[in-house]
Amino acid sequence: MSILRRPKIGVVGGGQIGGIIALLAAQDGIDVGLVDIKGGLAQAKGLDIEQAGYAGSFGSAVEGGDSYENLEGSDIVIITSGLPRKPGQNRDDLLLINAEIIKAVTEQVMKHTKNPVLIYVANPVDAITRLGKEISGLDSNKVIGMAPFLDSSRFAKLLSEKLEVSMKDIVAPVLGGHGDTMVPLVRYTTVGGLPLLEWVRQGKISQDEVDDIVQETRVGGGSLVKLFGKDAPKGHGGSAFNAPAMCAYEMAKAIIKDENRVISVCTSFDGLYGGGDGHGVNIKRGTYVGLPVILGAGGVKRVIDYPLIHEEQTELEASVGAVLNEQNGLYEIESLGLKM
Ligand code: LAC
Repeated sequence: MSILRRPKIGVVGGGQIGGIIALLAAQDGIDVGLVDIKGGLAQAKGLDIEQAGYAGSFGSAVEGGDSYENLEGSDIVIITSGLPRKPGQNRDDLLLINAEIIKAVTEQVMKHTKNPVLIYVANPVDAITRLGKEISGLDSNKVIGMAPFLDSSRFAKLLSEKLEVSMKDIVAPVLGGHGDTMVPLVRYTTVGGLPLLEWVRQGKISQDEVDDIVQETRVGGGSLVKLFGKDAPKGHGGSAFNAPAMCAYEMAKAIIKDENRVISVCTSFDGLYGGGDGHGVNIKRGTYVGLPVILGAGGVKRVIDYPLIHEEQTELEASVGAVLNEQNGLYEIESLGLKM
């Protein structure tokens, strides 16, 4: 008789995001291996979460420490390592700093796991995820970045508030890079199954209001960095953490439970995307960028092709150009030792 075990996810980085992911997973009956260079921090957070299990009625194991051995047996590893943005810093300023960290972490993760799915959180997420793919050597469908799901969450939240409709009933795809060039896809956004543009036609929201919401979505991460400002939690750079943790965890859950969820994630693509009205956007082999996918067992099962009109193609093209530029930059950082 085979012995069933609880599913397990690995989390690297015991900061705000890592700690919240560990709690969410534990509450769902999933075991967690939590690793941080600050071993005491990871161990303490793990124990603290286990102790929450009595009141919270869960019995998951959350093993924390500085050893990557804690990841053994994980089907998925969420890599939250990397420094967050500081006020005035954009996501790209972080590339140099975070690339070195991600390389070292990914090598360790691969030593202690077997063919896992990797989910990256750090910024600039499109380049960081590409780096993770290069360093891990895993199939590209198993290496995914979180941020477009976060961008969709922000887009949906703003629409929900304005239209007074539950977020549960909103589909709000955001394509492109996780930065100011991201493309909230208004034409494919639905509220209660009805296209958002129909809500505009019925006068429930004006086109100007939609435009403002799109812009607010684009700068959503930066707005939080400004708000945190000097009041950011100690030892934390002052960037979003609850929503990023929820997004990363829900992605891991979709994979563990083979939910086949349709969400926007940072994924690798090769070929023409969105060739509706025109030629489509040429996405060069291996570029990582936000696209709608089906997420289930084993990672990205399929990228969903939304036929795009000319303007949308132009916007996505600009965004792909921006992230590709950044990703090409990875191959120029000598210490990473990557070959094109
Ligand atoms: C944000 C940061 C994490 O969007 O990029 O909140």
